[in-house]
Amino acid sequence: MQIKTVEALKDALNLLTQKNQIIGLVPTMGALHDGHLALVEHAYKDCDYVVVSIFVNPTQFNNSSDLQKYPRNLEADVSLLHQQNSKTIVFTPSIEEIYKEGVVAETFDFGSITKFMEGEFRQGHFDGVGTIIKHLFNIVQPHKAYFGEKDYQQLSLIKKLVEITKQPVEIIGSPTYRETSGLAKSSRNKRLDEQQLEVATLLHRSLLYAKNNFNKLSISEIKEKVKGLFDQEKRLDLEYFEFAAVDDLIPTEDKVENKKYRAFIAAVINDVRLIDNISVN
Ligand code: PAF
Repeated sequence: MQIKTVEALKDALNLLTQKNQIIGLVPTMGALHDGHLALVEHAYKDCDYVVVSIFVNPTQFNNSSDLQKYPRNLEADVSLLHQQNSKTIVFTPSIEEIYKEGVVAETFDFGSITKFMEGEFRQGHFDGVGTIIKHLFNIVQPHKAYFGEKDYQQLSLIKKLVEITKQPVEIIGSPTYRETSGLAKSSRNKRLDEQQLEVATLLHRSLLYAKNNFNKLSISEIKEKVKGLFDQEKRLDLEYFEFAAVDDLIPTEDKVENKKYRAFIAAVINDVRLIDNISVN
């Protein structure tokens, strides 16, 4: 079923919740790939019905050309989802349907988890994400919602969002889905040709280097090495390569015993911005 309005979606979901059905939500911006389908599959392990929203959210784009160029493939997305599971409710609202009171983002205080890395390079992005997810949780009122670990800061802020808003939804993170080359699956990969896709594997290779050497080298030694690899690859511009503890997501050069760390990377190739991260200990 494809539903375009909030009212029709609420009606459909009311019928299901009256029958005590567990509802899962997978928010997306479309241009679906196997990573999205894996999230939906994960959701069906715990839920009776899954709502997949497809909405390219204007308030989370700090760059209008990025918003314009974002790949859109609505018809193919809907049929892909229904081929996977005919029960899936695909919610495809218009901008007016979601932003009834104007296309503006609410401002949130998520603390340190959104201040650095993506927060620094994409000003306002996380307020836009918080705004759309708060709207979607209010509309769908899912029991559980699923997000990929590729956008690790996003996953952390959504956990924080439900603490702030007290929306009764369980947030579930799903491991990053990768190409066989190691490149993280992303809708943005559709804008790269074969050669660029190969070059882009340097992000994952850098993260693997970080993971394999985290206990042997200092963080600054690892960063130096990775910076050197990017200096040699002129087709990729490194934006950041950082290590942060998962509880605060503040970039650090120090390792504190018993803390869990991840390495985070962002780079641009052919005007396409790619991000990735990995657990290193
Ligand atoms: O990760 C995304 O695709 C988007 O940021 C999300 C969570 C669907 C919000 O628009």
